[in-house]
Amino acid sequence: MKVLGIDIGGSAVKGAPVNTKTGRLLAERHRIETPKQLTPAGMAKVVAEIVAHFKWHGPIGLGFPGVIHGDRIMTSANLHPRFCGGSAIKLMSKATGCRVALVNDADAAGLAEIRFGAGRGVAGTVLLITLGTGVGSALFQDGKLFQNTELGHLPIRSKSAERFVSSTARKRRKLDWAEWGTELGAYLHTLETLLWPQLIIIGGGVSTKHRKFFKYLKPRAKLVPAKFFNEAGIVGAALWAAERQ
Ligand code: BGC
Repeated sequence: MKVLGIDIGGSAVKGAPVNTKTGRLLAERHRIETPKQLTPAGMAKVVAEIVAHFKWHGPIGLGFPGVIHGDRIMTSANLHPRFCGGSAIKLMSKATGCRVALVNDADAAGLAEIRFGAGRGVAGTVLLITLGTGVGSALFQDGKLFQNTELGHLPIRSKSAERFVSSTARKRRKLDWAEWGTELGAYLHTLETLLWPQLIIIGGGVSTKHRKFFKYLKPRAKLVPAKFFNEAGIVGAALWAAERQ
């Protein structure tokens, strides 16, 4: 099946058609920068631009960085607050003329890794953590997703962990790899104490630089970088939609 996967992020929206049987992109991904914080209506225009770029008329899987309940976005920690509570499916279907399925961005990335990537065939508990503008999480038990875990918001010093350990936080706080890695390692240690995963997958753009910081993390679980790196969100959103047809 062919589905257009779209990943809405903090600084850009990316999309590509995906073969959901193989997890492969069917065309080079199209990326539109969103330097200003967009309202839902503004974001719908950008999503429609991606759809127009591929002359797409089929189903769309849309990953969004917030809690998703059915067709509603419940939280929007790093995007416009007006996304909260609205029916994103209605908005995006209207803007694109296509059938839209909605999923949390980290859950999407996790799905791609579990079906075709670093978590393929792994039994037991698998935890994917994405490090980007925010910190996202996806939790699996024997390949089944437990939706909307928001482990990036685990409190550290009374704030969301993502304020300290996201990729953006590393740059903002001007931390070197050792300093950031040590803090990220302590955070992962807390997650392990609570969830005891057998495998931890690290995703997000920074996972391509895993050699620079994995040595500071020292988890009990096996630790691997995501196989899809930055494309997991696109592939996983498409898989989510395909599994709901
Ligand atoms: C959001 C999550 C999202 C993560 C990564 C967090 O701020 O609350 O829903 O998965 O960022 O984008």
